[in-house]
Amino acid sequence: MSHAPVSSWSLIRAAALFCFVLAGLTGLLFRYTMVGGLPQGLDLINIRHAHSHLMAYGWATPILLMLIARHVAFLRRQAGVAPTRAELALRPLIVLAICLGLLAFPLFFFYGYGLVSVAGIRLPPAVVVSAAALICWYGFALCYLQATRRLARDTALILFDLALFFLVLGSLAVWGLAFRRFFPTVDPTGLTHWFLFLFEEGWCLIALVGAAFAALDPGRNPRGNAPFLIVLLVIPLASPLGMDPTELSGTTQALSLSANLLAAMALLSLLFRLLLKVRQKRLLLWVFPLGLLALKALMVMGLCLSGKTELALFQPFRILYLHLLLLGGLTLGTLVASEQRAPGMMPGLPLFQAEVAVFLLALVPLTPIWPGSWLWAGYPTVALVLTAPPVLHGAFALCRFALHGFHTLRCLATATSPVQQFSKLRIRGG
Ligand code: HEM
Repeated sequence: MSHAPVSSWSLIRAAALFCFVLAGLTGLLFRYTMVGGLPQGLDLINIRHAHSHLMAYGWATPILLMLIARHVAFLRRQAGVAPTRAELALRPLIVLAICLGLLAFPLFFFYGYGLVSVAGIRLPPAVVVSAAALICWYGFALCYLQATRRLARDTALILFDLALFFLVLGSLAVWGLAFRRFFPTVDPTGLTHWFLFLFEEGWCLIALVGAAFAALDPGRNPRGNAPFLIVLLVIPLASPLGMDPTELSGTTQALSLSANLLAAMALLSLLFRLLLKVRQKRLLLWVFPLGLLALKALMVMGLCLSGKTELALFQPFRILYLHLLLLGGLTLGTLVASEQRAPGMMPGLPLFQAEVAVFLLALVPLTPIWPGSWLWAGYPTVALVLTAPPVLHGAFALCRFALHGFHTLRCLATATSPVQQFSKLRIRGG
């Protein structure tokens, strides 16, 4: 088997992949409850929160932060700038972000957003740990600003600037929720929606497109893409999409629909440029994740043009849409990007893509598009079986990585001189 040598980056990737597998197993447990019932003592809503939080805090955000940090290092090396403390701090901050995501997992799983008495004070522990993760993200954003201050900005870096800005902007809603008693007139549903929208459509999506530019067209002068990059600034105005339209004024709705249409068109234009690069460089593994992002943009445009924005309210549609964006687009895209940089962590990537395609298709019968009369009683079992392969594939990749690490350690332990250590590593798997 061919592997890159075990580096601290590959350990970080493995830790994030561990979060993906653990969160995926929790998702499968949720699906299992539709077949075998809810195991005693567990709460279905808490299971869902534990799944979505670990995917967001332990997998999606750290893997994007890692791709950002590696691109910053690449640009600084190219500019001949020596590493500074700000650049060196990016890596430990990603590790801390993963640790906090993992720590929040059991708290969400067992207590959800509930209060627990700690030393006589009643606190929501999962919320406290998640808030600490936000502070860690702010630390990353500050060090990123410092590390990229004097660099010439390529398209990827500008997209990362925007994405981190949206991440911080969206997170302000969480503080609004935490200190709600000081702002009694602010609507908590609106704040939650603001955070989720900016997290998914501002942070995850834009950082992913940035990672695709970093992988496919690094150093690209942003001037040619400037109009689309500027248009992406409307994303915060797009955020009312998915809220109850009866609670929004006509002006807010019109503004949100126009902003969504503009952002979707800008996204499609950037994706088109990326797909041209994919064809030129023959990196075909990018086609599926980028194609799914284009499908997502077309879905949003269709929704806005039909005026049926209330559809975005239905949970079953939301689950399909979210997994299209976060499993199909983000997970596949970040895996392709990181494998391109350092291959070996995720074996069988084309097969993994096929498994994700089946996963997404399996969600279609659970949406209202599918006539209820076509859904037979055994379908929840079929859905469970069809959604399991990406999780099992991730678990297999982790076991393989652990075996490789074990083998590397054994090599080092049995070698007598540094030269021998090096040659053993190169022969056996480096
Ligand atoms: C790896 C395989 C995955 C499995 C088996 C899985 C499974 C599930 C299940 C069963 C649900 C609840 C569905 C419902 O309410 O009917 C769900 C919701 C969700 N999942 Fe996943 N999922 C996976 C991957 C992902 C990824 C990669 C992300 C994000 C990076 C993600 C984010 C979410 C979110 C945000 C929700 C909605 C939570 C809510 O509405 O409270 N999932 N997932």
